Amino acid sequence: MKISVIGAGYVGLCTGLGFAKKGHSVIFHDVSRDVVERINRMEPAFYEPMVEDALKEAVAKRLAEASEDLDYAVSNSEITFICVPTPPKSDGSIDVAYIREASAALGKALSKKKGYHLVVMKSTVLPETTERIALPALEKNSNKVCGRDFGLCMNPEFLREGSALEDFLRPDRIVIGSFDQRSGDFLEGFYKGFGCPILRTSIKTAEMIKYVSNAFLATKISFSNEIGNACKKMGIDVYDVMKGVGMDKRISPHFLNAGIGFGGSCFPKDVSALISKSRDVDAQPLIMESVMEINREQPFKLIELLKKKGPIRGKSVSVLGLAFKADTDDIREAPSLRIVERLMQEGCEVRVYDPKAMGKFREKFPQISYFHSSRDCLKGSDVCIILTEWSEFRDLGENDFNLMRNKVIIEGRKVLNPSKVRGFEGICW
Ligand code: NAD
Ligand code: UGA
Repeated sequence: MKISVIGAGYVGLCTGLGFAKKGHSVIFHDVSRDVVERINRMEPAFYEPMVEDALKEAVAKRLAEASEDLDYAVSNSEITFICVPTPPKSDGSIDVAYIREASAALGKALSKKKGYHLVVMKSTVLPETTERIALPALEKNSNKVCGRDFGLCMNPEFLREGSALEDFLRPDRIVIGSFDQRSGDFLEGFYKGFGCPILRTSIKTAEMIKYVSNAFLATKISFSNEIGNACKKMGIDVYDVMKGVGMDKRISPHFLNAGIGFGGSCFPKDVSALISKSRDVDAQPLIMESVMEINREQPFKLIELLKKKGPIRGKSVSVLGLAFKADTDDIREAPSLRIVERLMQEGCEVRVYDPKAMGKFREKFPQISYFHSSRDCLKGSDVCIILTEWSEFRDLGENDFNLMRNKVIIEGRKVLNPSKVRGFEGICW
């Protein structure tokens, strides 16, 4: 089948390439000329495993192209996925300007197209956004009627950065919220062959499932961090505790890793948005408020620990890992941002290394020192802190840390191998 994607960022590009792997052909449309040109040059604008190869493969098979012309993308496809950003506003709610703009532009393109077309909201949007913002903009600008001339679904995406394509191709479930039976049947048929359960719901239920999934995962992490902070004081390794806890099938071992807290473009934004929506409807989001509060403080536990070992003013601190998680160059809401800022306020000399995220970090912190390897970064420093669980850090050994002037090592993610390194400490273990 022929599809189009509006917004070719992380979700849009991975969604389109995932469908191309299933044999569908995709036209990406983005307002950014740079994004469009890079896709056509087969150079993704961000680092994500498998994506560059998948893009090359799809373009070579003539299954993928990008265009600035939305009319062209829509007239040459049967389904359009909306994958534009939904960034947070200062009160925590989402900014729906991109959704409104994309829906209006799609409506105009639909007005010129003959025949039925399915519109699928894939952006993460608060309950009622698809029906109250996207639907009216689509109908007004197309002069067409939803349910008769075009279909509408909300199909949340659950992929993670760092394993985006794999997650997309092997989901635990697919959720389809539909405006009417025909829209939902059309999308369900399109998803045949994904080999996972497909849950059919109303549009606003699908919107809510996405937020609640992220909020629940974030809750598991903050809970583990709260327990981890207590374990640290009792001399217990929280990872051993959570191993035992996660063996209970009702709990599961996933998302129980304590550390410096969650970052990324979604958990902080989505939990804040659900808090804001709950307040709007006069429901008290007490647990979610605590989840965010714990997460705000968690990165600074690492600095508290450092200070217990002596004054840090004037110390040279090597920061290994800047990305909000491994296998991505994304630093949105990364704990490293707050930790580096605090270290600078405390008068430390900050030196950093990350295999992929230094370009983006340098735009925010041009004044610190950047190194091309862990060893170069460690050389002559007083303290080392590890903020991202990059697999290459697992290989670091005594030889590498012996390059330091003083050997104070604290890890914020459990990544070092105790059989290779001695004398390091974990934030919650
Ligand atoms: P992103 O910023 O990486 O990409 C969004 C793209 O949309 C950009 O390239 C931008 O230029 C383009 N765009 C903006 N307005 C447009 C318009 N009117 N027409 C065409 N293109 C437009 O964002 P993302 O991380 O892919 O997130 C998109 C949505 O998916 C958000 O709602 C997010 O919450 C959700 N989501 C993200 C992830 C993730 O891992 N990043 C996972 C699941 C869901
Ligand atoms: C998360 C969800 O896992 C995806 O299902 C969802 O689609 C996505 O948000 C989204 O809506 O954008 P992502 O943010 O890419 O995916 O990455 P995660 O693996 O969930 O990690 C998020 C943050 O939590 C990272 O900073 C990570 O280090 C941290 N984390 C994760 C922990 O601190 N402990 C854990 O046990 C797991």
